[in-house]
Formats: sequence, structure tokens, C-alpha cells
Amino acid sequence: MRGLMIAKQRRGLRRVEVERAPRLGLLRPTPTGFRVTVRLHDGQTPDDYERVLDKLAHAWRVHSVRLVGWRPGKVTLVATMTDPLETVAGGHSLADGLLRVRVGRLDSGEWFVIDFRKVPHWLNVGATQSGKSNLANALIAGLAPQPVALVGFDLKGGVEFTPYQRRLSALATERAECARLLADLVGIITSRMALCRQHRVKNIWHPRLPEEARPTPIVVLVDEVAELFLMADPKAEKEEVAAVATRLLRIAQLGRAFGIYLVVCGQRVGSDLGPGVTALRAQLTGRICHMVNDDETAKMCLGDMDSRAVAAARQISADRPGTAVVLGADSRWHMERSVHVTEEEAEAAAEEHAELAPSWALLTGGPAIEVADAEELEQAVDEFAAPDLEDLPV
Ligand SMILES: Nc1ncnc2c1ncn2[C@@H]1O[C@H](COP(=O)(O)OP(=O)(O)OP(=O)(O)O)[C@@H](O)[C@H]1O
Ligand SMILES: [Mg+2]
Repeated sequence: MRGLMIAKQRRGLRRVEVERAPRLGLLRPTPTGFRVTVRLHDGQTPDDYERVLDKLAHAWRVHSVRLVGWRPGKVTLVATMTDPLETVAGGHSLADGLLRVRVGRLDSGEWFVIDFRKVPHWLNVGATQSGKSNLANALIAGLAPQPVALVGFDLKGGVEFTPYQRRLSALATERAECARLLADLVGIITSRMALCRQHRVKNIWHPRLPEEARPTPIVVLVDEVAELFLMADPKAEKEEVAAVATRLLRIAQLGRAFGIYLVVCGQRVGSDLGPGVTALRAQLTGRICHMVNDDETAKMCLGDMDSRAVAAARQISADRPGTAVVLGADSRWHMERSVHVTEEEAEAAAEEHAELAPSWALLTGGPAIEVADAEELEQAVDEFAAPDLEDLPV
């Protein structure tokens, strides 16, 4: 009897699942480490590997391991020997084709490219001194040589964007000015809408639109967005704030189709700022989360779909400004560090290419710009905001 129990226990013990050694393919060297394909054991899924990547990094004595792809029965892992974000060398051309800027490096060693035609609007969040303005500098420096109009909203009294004014087509430093400028942008949308209807196209990039009729794309940079929504005197300012919020939202909804792109920076962009903020945030699909002081802010920026992205953002240390977790076109998250672009460098780029800044009058078509009313805009969202696959830029 006793013997039988021991045998049963032994059999039980033998059946205990142990972690099986991974079946590694050939290690292929990369500039920063190596790449390897692993054959999955029966019952394993790529998720099983996703969960243990940091354990693997320790076991392999490398800085990090990432899962970069899978095929049925196989996953591909990339190991990086040293931290590629320790220093991010600049000195390259930031511009990378129309509306594309190589603003930094991903931890995979690849460029982090902001491509406005792929991901039109970006939310750039971080605590003070985390690197938000540096990223804006990189964008200014990268876009300055391109046939693109730049617009600044800088409610910190203009300290951030005034140095780049010669390359900006418009700069607003007070809320009333912002409200006017946003109304002008809605006006620009209105006239581009008419242009697109006239040529029966759904966006300004459509090949059917004659090249000479194609309007200049506009990138709008907003620093410290909270200032647009905060009210010292709610009674007096409520209307203005509501107008600002609605216009921003319309621009975000229709911007992709009409070539107007938003980069919204802020320490916090939470619903506490007002009802319009959540709707606006939902339109800003590109996300950059620098170092933040609380989980809430990281979740607000990155969403709570992937707790690992939030955890990674919370680990960014203050002595690594410019480091961020980013969500972009492939809807996966990456660690990134932007190239260090000083105010002086961005200013020099802005000066050098000042003649490329189209005047505001040219962009708006003059002072008597027509602005669609609320109802027309709502219709336009239905008509133009849903991207038609055929019409997407190539
Ligand atoms: N990628 C980077 N590499 C090296 N240094 C950086 C990088 N990004 C930013 N810095 C440095 O960190 C400091 C803070 O950066 P930045 O001004 O961009 O922060 P911020 O988030 O805009 O802060 P604030 O909210 O106070 O405006 C600056 O001195 C800047 O030079
Ligand atoms: Mg700043």
C-alpha cells in the first residue's frame, strides 16, 4: 500500500510541468546585439515569451530582449547588448521626406519617425523638464526645411516658440489670440473642404487633385495645452474656452483629410481640464509619454490596454530627459529617446528656412475667410473623417 502511494507520488512528480529549454535557431548578429528565431514547444504561444522577456535578458546577460515578430510555431527575438538610449547621437538630417521627421531612436536601434501622414495627431506628455519642448524643437528643426507651414500655440507667454517665429506662419500667445487662430484654421478647413468637393476627392493628398491645387500642409504645435482650458474666472471665460475646445476638436477630426496636423504637449491632459479634453485626446492617436509623476498620467497618455507600457513609462528616470514610451502607427509601444535639439539649434534652423514660411494671409486666403457653421462641420466629419482606404496617402 505504502509502496503504491510512493509510486503514485513519483508519477505525480514526474508529470509536473517544468519550463523547457527554448529551441533556439541561429544567432544572427545585428549592430546592437543579435537576433534569433525560437521554435515554440507544443502549447506555447508568443505571449508566453512576451511575459518572460526581462528574465531572458538577465539569463542572456544582455540589456534587453524584445519579441519582434512571430510565425506559426516560431517567434523572433532581438537582444540588445547595451542600452541604445544611453546617448542618442544627433548630427543627422532630421527631415525624412515630406511630413516625416526622425526625432529620435527607438530601443531597437531604429529611428523613431513621426510621420504625420500616417499618424496625423500626437499627444506629447511629461512632467516638467522631461523633454517635451526638446521634442518640439526636434520637430521644428526637422520640418523647417520642408514645404510645410508651422503654427505655434504657446500660452507660456511665448517663451517656447517665439525664437522660431520667423519660420512660423502664425503664433498665438494668449487665449483670445488662440481662439482667433483656431477659427482661422477651421476656415482653412472650410475652404479645403470646398476644394476637395470640387475635385470629388476625400482628402488633399488624392492623386486626382492637381498638384498646383494641393494646399500646403500645416503642422500646429501646442505647448502646455492645459493653459488653453484653465479658467481663472469661469463666468467670463467659459464661452471662450468652449469655443477653443470645439475648434480644436474639429481640427483634430478633420485635420487628416485637409492636411492640418496637431502636436499637443502638456504636463497633464486629463478630463479634469473639461469635457472637451477627453474627446480631443481620443483623436490624438500618436502618444508620447515622457517621465511622469504618477500612474494616472501615464495611463491617461498610453491608455490602460497594456500595463507594461505604463510600467515602462514609470521607470523612466529624471536623469534621462527626452526618454519616452511611444505608441505610433503599429499600435505597439516602444521606448524612445529623442535627439537632443537645443533651442539655439532649432532657432538656427528656423532662421535658415524662414523664407519657406507661407504668410498667414496666403494660407487663409485673406481676411474675409469663410468659416463653416457647426452643422456643416458635423456633416463634414461624416463625409471626410472616415479614411477611405483608396484615398490614403501612399
Ligand atoms: N533627448 C535629450 N537628450 C538630452 N537632454 C535632453 C533631451 N531632451 C531634453 N533634454 C534636456 O532636458 C531639459 C528639459 O527638457 P525640456 O525643456 O524639453 O523639458 P519640458 O518637458 O519641456 O519641461 P517644461 O515642462 O518645464 O517645459 C533641457 O535642459 C533639455 O536640454
Ligand atoms: Mg517645455
